[in-house]
Amino acid sequence: MKINKIAVLEGDGIGPEVMKEALNVLDIISKKNNINFDCNKGLVGAAAIEVEGHPFPESTKNLCNNSDAILFGAIGDPKYDNNPKAKIRPEDGLLEMRKFLGLYANVRPVITYDSLLDSSPLKKEIVKGTNFVVYRELTGGIYFGEKYISKDRKSAYDTCSYSFKEIERISHLAFKEARKRKKELTLVDKANVLETSRLWREVVQKISNDYPDIKVSYLFVDNAAMKIITNPKDFDVILTENMFGDIITDEASVITGSLGMLPSASIGDKISLFEPIHGSYPQAVGKGIANPMAMILSLGMMLDMSFNLKKESEIILKSIEDALKENIVTIDINSKKYYSTSEVGDWLSKRVSDYLS
Ligand code: IPM
Ligand code: MG
Repeated sequence: MKINKIAVLEGDGIGPEVMKEALNVLDIISKKNNINFDCNKGLVGAAAIEVEGHPFPESTKNLCNNSDAILFGAIGDPKYDNNPKAKIRPEDGLLEMRKFLGLYANVRPVITYDSLLDSSPLKKEIVKGTNFVVYRELTGGIYFGEKYISKDRKSAYDTCSYSFKEIERISHLAFKEARKRKKELTLVDKANVLETSRLWREVVQKISNDYPDIKVSYLFVDNAAMKIITNPKDFDVILTENMFGDIITDEASVITGSLGMLPSASIGDKISLFEPIHGSYPQAVGKGIANPMAMILSLGMMLDMSFNLKKESEIILKSIEDALKENIVTIDINSKKYYSTSEVGDWLSKRVSDYLS
């Protein structure tokens, strides 16, 4: 029987708590459908700095290289946040991991659930029906360009650079995704100011010839930031570079009502990584209040995209929708009547199990 190897990187903060619930769901799927998953844990982030002195240590690199997919919790510890001179940061582990594993495309779906419409800070009629996906370039741009700070710390720079190839490969993924959806793609850039953005437009215009069925539009990032909040329903597939993608995906995440609901995938040529988009949420650690849904939805994305288990992935999504309808939710979604992380996780495992039998 084929063995599906999964690297399980719980990371920091609430990472281990939400991961536990996702692994319970995976266990049910494995037993009920007789699918073999070999899950091995590795350290990453602050947890890895403490044990190994490095946020993405060799042992975790090897584990990832020998796996078919990576399930990732969260990274970050406030202890490192307010020290601009810190030599080593948990987030460096994440960036190194993206580069090392070649995870060049970050996919973040923004889907609204009708039962959550009241939780959105936006008006219901603006939010209802929103369903778009952001393709964010993840291994280039200003995050990875040359950096410098002068010895006297009086000046500094970060360089943004992109190659034709880097833009081309993620653009193809985004165009292909648009083909499966409403066939609309929006490139978000700052082509009125930045040379890299002008290259993005040039590449996307060239590639669009291969996809004549896709309607392409272009938006400057400042304008896009406004439209995402005022007309989120107008978007289908958004394609953008690394830093713009970082910013607009956080913005987009609030539309849905809870950050605790959004999964993501980071796609590479050999391996892909799946993680909730919420962070490590240190204030919640140990309290049993973290929402496990984004982690469990990330598991669903992994089953679909890395193991082609479409039915199982759909069952996860259906179970989440059921939980929302029946109000089996954590405090971030309903502050009056709520359940703990493990209660929500157990309910979801049971529901997935019922659907599978
Ligand atoms: C994200 C995060 C990371 C990023 C941080 C933690 C380095 O904000 O995944 O969006 O900026 O890419
Ligand atoms: Mg971010």
